[in-house]
This record gives sequence, C-alpha cells and structure tokens, in this order.
Amino acid sequence: MARAARTFHLTTFGCQMNEHDSERIKGLLRALGLREAAARSDADVILFNTCSIRESADQRFIGHLGEAKRLKSERPERIVAVGGCWAQSMREQVFEMFPFVDVAFGPGQIHKLGEVLVRDSLEAQAGFFEFEDFSAHLPAERARPFQAWVQISQGCNCVCSYCIVPQTRGREVSRPPQEIVAEVEQLAREGVREITLLGQNVCSYGRDLPRGQRITFAELLARLDAIEGIERIRYTSPHPKDIREDVVRAHAELASVCEHIHLPVQSGSSRILKRMRRTYDRQRYLDRVAMIRGLVPDCSITTDIIVGFPGETEEDFEETLSLVEEVRFDGAFTFIFSPRRGTEAAEMPDQVPHPVKRERMARLVELTQRVARERAQRFVGRTLEVLVEGPSRTDPERLRGRTRHNKTVNFDGVAQAGELARVRIASATSTTLSGEEVLMARLGVAS
Ligand code: 5AD
Ligand code: SF4
Repeated sequence: MARAARTFHLTTFGCQMNEHDSERIKGLLRALGLREAAARSDADVILFNTCSIRESADQRFIGHLGEAKRLKSERPERIVAVGGCWAQSMREQVFEMFPFVDVAFGPGQIHKLGEVLVRDSLEAQAGFFEFEDFSAHLPAERARPFQAWVQISQGCNCVCSYCIVPQTRGREVSRPPQEIVAEVEQLAREGVREITLLGQNVCSYGRDLPRGQRITFAELLARLDAIEGIERIRYTSPHPKDIREDVVRAHAELASVCEHIHLPVQSGSSRILKRMRRTYDRQRYLDRVAMIRGLVPDCSITTDIIVGFPGETEEDFEETLSLVEEVRFDGAFTFIFSPRRGTEAAEMPDQVPHPVKRERMARLVELTQRVARERAQRFVGRTLEVLVEGPSRTDPERLRGRTRHNKTVNFDGVAQAGELARVRIASATSTTLSGEEVLMARLGVAS
C-alpha cells in the first residue's frame, strides 16, 4: 500500500505576494500534519507557487516542473500541486499539457488546497477545479490569524469505487477528543474565531477510539462550541450514509456551528450510486436533505458531483440533473470522472468517452450555477453576520468576508479583518453576495 503523505516541498516564484501566499500554504500544510522536506526528492507532496508576470518566470518554472515529472514517475503516489498566477492563467490547459500534475489552484484558493489534500489527494485531476476571481492586486496581508483548519481524523473506511483515498490514506484513525479540544483552546487563545474540522468522513468520527475516550461527532461539536472565543465551526465532509439527526441538530442548537452542510452526493442515479459503492440511494439522500431542511430550514447545502462515471447513461445523468433541481443546492463542486490507478472504477469496462463527459459537465455546471444563483436571492434584503477576511479581490476599496452560510460577500464598510460585521445584502450571484455594512448593528455586536 502507498504510504500516507507526510512531507512537502514548496518552491515559490515571483513577487512578495507569492511569498506571503507560500507562508500560508506552509502553515496550512503544517496544520494538516505535514513536515517540510529539505529536498524536493524527499517530498510526498511537491508544490509550486507560480508566477506568470514574465515569460522568463514561466521558463524557469517549466524546468522545475520537469524534475517533478521525473520524481512522480519514480513514485507515482507523489502529489504534484501547482498554484498561483501561472496555474490560474493556464487553467484551461494545465491538466492536458502536464498530465502528471494532480492539483492546480488559483491564488484565491489556498484554503481549498487543504481541503483537497485531506479529502482526496488527487481529486483535481478531474480537471475542473473551479478558479475564483483573480486580480493582479491581491491584498498584501494574506495571513488570516483568525481562521484555522483542525484535522480530526485521517483515512477512510469506505470503499467508494472511484476513490483513491482508502489506498493512499488507509483506515480511518480519529484523533482523541481531548487532543482536539486542547488544540482548539490554544487556537482560541491565539485569536482564532473560525475553525474548519477536516476528515474524510467526519460523521464516523470517534468510532475507532477506545471505549473510555469514544465520543460522537455531534458530541465533539458540542465540546468545541463551548470553547470561549470560537464563534464559527465548519466541517468537511460528512458522508450521507453517516450524517445523523444529532449532527443536524447541532446546527440548530449550537451557536457556533454554521448554517451550511457540504454533503457530497456524487450522482442522482441510484444505479450509479450502487456502482460507486456509496451505500445510499437517491431517496435516502433526499431523506437526509429533508431532515436538514426540517431542522435547519435556512441551511445552505452544497455538494460534490461526479459526471461520466463508468456506465453512466444519458438517463442516469438526467437523474443527477433532476436531483440538483429537487434539492436546490447552494453550490456544487463538479468533477469529471477520472480513473485512478488501482481503483475498482478504473477497471470497469464501460468508460464514458471524454467528449460525452465534457458535454455533460457543461450542462451540469450551467444548472448548478443557475440553481445556486436562484438560491442566493433569498439573502437579498437580509442583514447577515460576515467574518471579514480583508479587502475585496476585485475592488480594494471594498471589503470581503464570508457569511455563516459560506457565501463570499463583497461590501462597503469599515470593519477590520477578523471582525464580525453586520452586512445588508443588496444583490447576489451564484457565488458572491454584495452589500453594505450596517454600522449601528455592528457596535451592538461588539459590545
Ligand atoms: N474522479 C472524479 N472525481 C473524483 N472525486 C474523488 N475521486 C474522483 C475521481 N476518481 C471527487 C468526489 C469527491 C471529491 C473530493 O472529489 O466528488 O467528493
Ligand atoms: Fe473516498 Fe468514499 Fe472515503 Fe470519500 S467516503 S474518501 S469518496 S472512499
């Protein structure tokens, strides 16, 4: 079995901004338990933070990438990740031109890098890693001392037939709750206000712990909610087969647990779900959604969807489309199925031709964006709590932050990064809200 990723090596090109970003990448990877390797050849995860200001930077980078290709061919379970401006500019071609690249991410997506590496080390080769808005004037202050990732478990006991994680990460191992609580207490002392709990299948957290220590995921949420200073708790990802009422209730009852659940569905066709070995069918997923809507009516629900899984017919795909309409997801990460070496699905005979996958992907993206945009209209006219992250990426005169529903908001206001502001929402697109800070209410919150 391949060994779990342990060490990383990061090479930075370009400007001061990239240096800042690289500090954040390193901090994130350390928080995820990875150590920095002295040499690229010693690393399990090889990263490049790229720059495309000048062609010479491109050329220099291509040379380094050649070495990464060689290292990857020596040990294919190595992960090669390319981020930054060059990756952003090449987003249409990067996976085609450099098939050994596993993950590509834009300058705005460092937070997602952690998610990708922990949730599924190789997901992005699916080739549709969504890139966020890009501005050449990235904010100078990139560190976010008020947000932190906290890993609660490693590995996965599921056997999803497309997924490489069980091979690369092994069986699920939960961290003892007292260790997690101590870490979050320390983070709170350092000024962290928002934490995101990470695990392959967070809802099965604790099942492997010895009897005396064993607590459920819902109990863990309650313990973390009690920690002074932690205002927001998020987690990713729960498995639809394991999310129970106690976890959903936590969203309603615990003040810091945000009104957002990312619940990967993968397909709307029960036949395909069976071939994926997801162990739930369409109806069971819809029942979970109904439970969430019943207990937390305003909850945002987002998902992951794979298109072009082996054997997926037009009818199966249309069931995915109709599920998106029925659930009305607030957002979706969409992936073209990519056969991962050693997985059951990679060996299935009825692979879907690439042009068909692309055509389905385009239809799915159009639908998920329309539904997300429609869903987001419910925020227009409301005043929402926003954790301020810094200046807006597109307009440095404005601020940017995130709502509890996990929507990015660009707004006019005076709040500082790390503060909770009250923002009246004036308009909404599929991914972004726009509004204005409500100053009186903010004073009220701060007192
Ligand atoms: N092909 C395409 N998408 C995949 N994912 C995982 N493995 C694959 C694969 N082989 C997607 C799933 C998962 C997300 C993290 O990555 O949707 O939820
Ligand atoms: Fe992979 Fe399935 Fe485990 Fe997620 S739940 S990590 S998709 S095996």
